[in-house]
Amino acid sequence: MSEKLYLYPQWVRVWHGLNAILCLVLLLTGLSLQYSDESYIFLLRFDIAVNLHSICGVLLSINYFFFIIGNWIRPNGRYYRVQFKGFLSTVVKQMKYYAFGMFKGEPAPFPITKESKFNPLQKLSYIIIMYLMFPIVTLTGWILMYPDFMRTEVFGSENIHAIQFVDLIHLIVGYIISLFMIIHIYFCTLGKTALSNFKSMINGWHEPH
Ligand code: HEM
Repeated sequence: MSEKLYLYPQWVRVWHGLNAILCLVLLLTGLSLQYSDESYIFLLRFDIAVNLHSICGVLLSINYFFFIIGNWIRPNGRYYRVQFKGFLSTVVKQMKYYAFGMFKGEPAPFPITKESKFNPLQKLSYIIIMYLMFPIVTLTGWILMYPDFMRTEVFGSENIHAIQFVDLIHLIVGYIISLFMIIHIYFCTLGKTALSNFKSMINGWHEPH
């Protein structure tokens, strides 16, 4: 039987916990900003939502900075490196497993090891979210907090101001990250038991199948 593996060091768990809480609050406050209407009882009051969204956005950026530095100077960063040759075919193989193989009881094509804790699809999605979407959402968020920097027009139109364009990008990427979060939580239930991956993110130890 395979041994338990220590895969989630303390700094990753602390970063991840804060990141998850902040993303949830940002989602709730973001929705409250977009659909501000007092008749929607599950949404927050506009002024409260604005302040909370800004505070959590700043905290998320600081926490993100620790993630970048942590992955840069600590061994965890190696799990995010990609060997481009043949990578796409490994992603397709993993997709086929999730679509068919898993339901036929086939073994996972890329079992978790100390050398490689993410399967190719996980690796691809974590890289896209953390190294592409996060810089965009945080940068556009900061610009929206200081809109005076963006008084120019876009595409030569007097009606579309740069700030509206930035806002649209911020919104689209915010939705992509929210969608990722839902899919991510589903995939996290596919461990040894439905809860074992969640326990791993608390105690650091991965339980093999
Ligand atoms: C309530 C919300 C969340 C829950 C319950 C959750 C749960 C988990 C669990 C159980 C793992 C370990 C299994 C694995 O490696 O896939 C994990 C890892 C990870 N999650 Fe989440 N997550 C949440 C939100 C998020 C959000 C919002 C993001 C980013 C936008 C995120 C990014 C990541 C990343 C990058 C890892 C890998 C960390 C590493 O080991 O380097 N998670 N998550």
